[in-house]
Amino acid sequence: MNFPIAVTNVKLNQLDDSWSGMAQLSGQDQAYKVLIFKRDESYRLISAYCPHQGLDLTNVPIENDGNLVCPFHGWRIGVFCQNAMSYVVERQGENFVVVSEET
Ligand code: FES
Repeated sequence: MNFPIAVTNVKLNQLDDSWSGMAQLSGQDQAYKVLIFKRDESYRLISAYCPHQGLDLTNVPIENDGNLVCPFHGWRIGVFCQNAMSYVVERQGENFVVVSEET
């Protein structure tokens, strides 16, 4: 995967420190909706859709342990934690750029 990847059509969500946008991530043939979260001074990005059955996770908050818990069936999606499924994002003014996968 070639980084950096620009996130387009960014808009602030209802939650504090959460944005929606569009990005073409690994294994995708087109841009899909993504979510960006901020914790301290770090930004992470995940697909906006639950990997289980695709529920849109916009406006679902991050738990204190760094996971987002899908309200449909309870799958836990690592955002700010070990073994996270997220991408590292940098903020550049009002824009966001995906710089790497979380390792
Ligand atoms: S759709 Fe998210 S846990 Fe099932």
